[in-house]
Amino acid sequence: MMIQRAAMAALLLGVSAYAVSADVMAPTTPPDAPKFDAQGQPVFVNRSDIAEFKALPAYNEPAWVKAFVDAGKLPPVAERLPKEPMVYKTANMPDGNGVYGDVMRHVIGGRPEGWNFWAGQSYGWGGIDIGLVECLTRTGPLFQVNAADLQPMPNLAKSWEWSEDGKTLTVHLVEGAKWSDGAPFTTADTEFYFNDVVGDPEVTPLMGAAPATYSDAVYANVDDYTFTLTFQTPFPEAVLYNMAYGNFCPGPSHILKPQHPKYGGASYEAFQKAFPSDYMNFPVMGGWTVVEHRPDDVVVLRRNPYYWKVDEAGNQLPYLDEMQYRLSTWGDRDVQAVAGTGDFSNLEQAENYVEALKKAADPASPAKLAFGPRTIGYTLYPNLSGNGWGEPTPEGQAIRDLNRNLDFRKAITYAIDRQRLGDSLVKGPFTVPYPGGLYDGTSYYDKASTVFYPYDAASAKAQLEAAGLTDTDGDGFVNVAGGGNLNVTLLTQSDYATDKNLAEGVVAMMGEVGVKVTLSALTGKDFDNARDSGKFDWIIIRNGTELITVVQNTTALAPTGPTTDVNHKANGAGELDLLDHEKAMVDIVNKFIASRDPAERQALMKDYQKLYTENLDGIGLTAYPGALIVNKRFANIPAGAPIFMYNWAEDNIIRERVFVPADKQIGAELHPNTLPGAPGSAGPVSVE
Ligand code: GLA
Ligand code: CA
Repeated sequence: MMIQRAAMAALLLGVSAYAVSADVMAPTTPPDAPKFDAQGQPVFVNRSDIAEFKALPAYNEPAWVKAFVDAGKLPPVAERLPKEPMVYKTANMPDGNGVYGDVMRHVIGGRPEGWNFWAGQSYGWGGIDIGLVECLTRTGPLFQVNAADLQPMPNLAKSWEWSEDGKTLTVHLVEGAKWSDGAPFTTADTEFYFNDVVGDPEVTPLMGAAPATYSDAVYANVDDYTFTLTFQTPFPEAVLYNMAYGNFCPGPSHILKPQHPKYGGASYEAFQKAFPSDYMNFPVMGGWTVVEHRPDDVVVLRRNPYYWKVDEAGNQLPYLDEMQYRLSTWGDRDVQAVAGTGDFSNLEQAENYVEALKKAADPASPAKLAFGPRTIGYTLYPNLSGNGWGEPTPEGQAIRDLNRNLDFRKAITYAIDRQRLGDSLVKGPFTVPYPGGLYDGTSYYDKASTVFYPYDAASAKAQLEAAGLTDTDGDGFVNVAGGGNLNVTLLTQSDYATDKNLAEGVVAMMGEVGVKVTLSALTGKDFDNARDSGKFDWIIIRNGTELITVVQNTTALAPTGPTTDVNHKANGAGELDLLDHEKAMVDIVNKFIASRDPAERQALMKDYQKLYTENLDGIGLTAYPGALIVNKRFANIPAGAPIFMYNWAEDNIIRERVFVPADKQIGAELHPNTLPGAPGSAGPVSVE
């Protein structure tokens, strides 16, 4: 009715349809989140309090590994370790130096495709890749680092320095570290990663690293353990964060390079598929190596005898001898962790909270459950490309054009009742209506710069009208100009109950204001491919670390490069047709990356938040806290470890330091007293 009145007024006055805006509810700042205290606060330290690189007088290993040395099957531990291994400091370990043995039993919803992470193969998530693939820097544990010392932690890069003009970064690798098959880890590996993986447009690594990820740096080797990156602009410090998990995690060049087409490999496809999921003992720099994969059943990892980290007593890490990943569903991970048949879960599907909390509250519960900050958040992203990314049909192109119209995006946001959406997942003080952009409670968030469009169906309808959409045939759904009903396809990931429930909620709410939305629910890699190739009108995703930390994955905050942004990548010709607000966001993000002034960076992020939320670059849905569930037998789990901040909890807890006291070990190893075999051989090896 409001619309009719407005339209009539517009007619009478001869003004544009924008006159309806008088009947649209004004945006506000977002409602305050219900109080929900994180359980357990981190003990804040400097990075150097956690670990250092130094030689120790002597080193130890499990007795059963020593038996391999005694049998002449493995060099002595001191020879397997680098000259100066990474040494974890006892004072920073919650329960002190540990003992060897036992296994961590994970349950995951993904499936390993194969081991060529560098050509885009997924290991099945849930921390398998985090445990196998080590990176030059590390950020997961930064949740406990003092703000004044906030920089990525050294890892395979033991140190780095900037030239005076800030245009050259010199990186020093840990010297004498070895792959799990004993081959040396050197700049041959970093060079292969940089030039033949990131620098080769035919190869796309799993997490999408591209030259822009490293500010288009030029790579040069100095010696076996030193390389430089040279930049066009001074001090692009964001690259140090992009050297952490997901990106600068080099693969074993001695194994990968011979399969790469530039060095004699048959084709790019053959390169990608050269290490299928039944290829065992793929060499890693991580604490454990895959020795067994039974499809849809389990993946088993055994300790890497060449792991390059130790404790202050000289004990080679990890403490845990085995890692298991039961191949099930993500929902089952919560159920099993609470029941004690699994050891670990990131409780992140809000539908499971009440049941999990009830069970964990029982003093006899085998698992401890601790909620963290509200960093799990979902956003509905309209595809903002108008020039062909994802090759839309003519109908799809019409939707892209609508997506690029702010009136249409406003219609979507006014139609969403975020409180009802959150309550449909879980009732209680968990979820908060999320306007989109940076999360409330994180360090760069500013409430006054956050624009929130409250739920109001009448405003949604007025905005549809303003976007030229009316129900011309009276069937309850708005029509495209001179045609049938508008029908928007909403892409969602169906491996998680939450994603699907939110998507169904959005479909229903859009229906209430007359927008027909059809769900396209895909699983695993099919979803990832559709997402990354732009084959969607709208998409719902669980957001990444950039909206929490800002300093990590900063380039993903806007379409700063052809492939950095989730809902706006370049078309086949490499062209980006940015909207005005997107151009302004890109400008801000680039300024942020170039700035070393904390006050300026804060101010820039206020502008970013204003642009993002006012223009509805993404349409926020709901945000809520996750909880870490870990079996009570494990020691050295740091207090306040969030399930997701700079990285997932699988990294945040520093697994190589986690142990089980001798009297609590459960004897659940599937391959006791074995080590990984030769690359490509059938399974683990024992000493006989
Ligand atoms: C999946 C899970 C997360 C986390 C990550 C780790 O995305 O949903 O909880 O385990 O894998 O990569
Ligand atoms: Ca209609």
